[in-house]
Amino acid sequence: MSKNSNYTGGERFNKLSKKDGYRSRAAYKLKQINKLQNLIKQNQNILDIGCAPGSWIQVIKEITKGKANITGVDILPMEKIEGIIFLQKDLLEIKDSDLKDHFHLVLSDIAPNITGIGITDTQNMIELLNIEIYLINKYLVKGGSFLAKCFQGNSFDHLKKFMKNNFDEVIRFKPEASRKSSKECYLLGKFKK
Ligand SMILES: C[S@@+](CC[C@H](N)C(=O)[O-])C[C@H]1O[C@@H](n2cnc3c(N)ncnc32)[C@H](O)[C@@H]1O
Repeated sequence: MSKNSNYTGGERFNKLSKKDGYRSRAAYKLKQINKLQNLIKQNQNILDIGCAPGSWIQVIKEITKGKANITGVDILPMEKIEGIIFLQKDLLEIKDSDLKDHFHLVLSDIAPNITGIGITDTQNMIELLNIEIYLINKYLVKGGSFLAKCFQGNSFDHLKKFMKNNFDEVIRFKPEASRKSSKECYLLGKFKK
């Protein structure tokens, strides 16, 4: 870490992502969690919710040497990545007919646009989490894992409660590449019941 206090962890990873060819510093969040938990494996069906600009997909392709079936969803367009299914959709409008597979691993880095009004931001995050929860109940296989972003506070409590009831193990992460000043953190549910 630089001695310059303006040179935050976030900026350090922004620079590193340019050097390493990742589309965003978010890559290092998934890399760090995966190093600890070994979630991503070849031949899995993997769903990446809120996938643009695509650095988590780059990481998955790298780890699996291209041998995973990846579906990504984002409301924004994403520069093409070969060999994956990309659905440009609002998660709030996703339909069962959009998803054909069951998944071994579901990742979500989705967050709503921040309004700055705490109660609205929390409600919007919980609304997204409720769709994620619906998808987990329906599309994640028994024994599968779910890694999702949330924010310390009500959305964290909401997700943790769901995970505690539905997974054998629940672990919280604050990756190094996540700004210390942000309430962002990640919860991992392992081994869906
Ligand atoms: C932090 S970024 C994800 C970065 C990604 N993990 C990566 O590594 O490139 C969060 C994404 O969530 C998406 N998002 C926010 N609200 C959404 C919604 N309602 N439906 C679909 N995507 C949404 C944003 O467009 C944004 O691309």
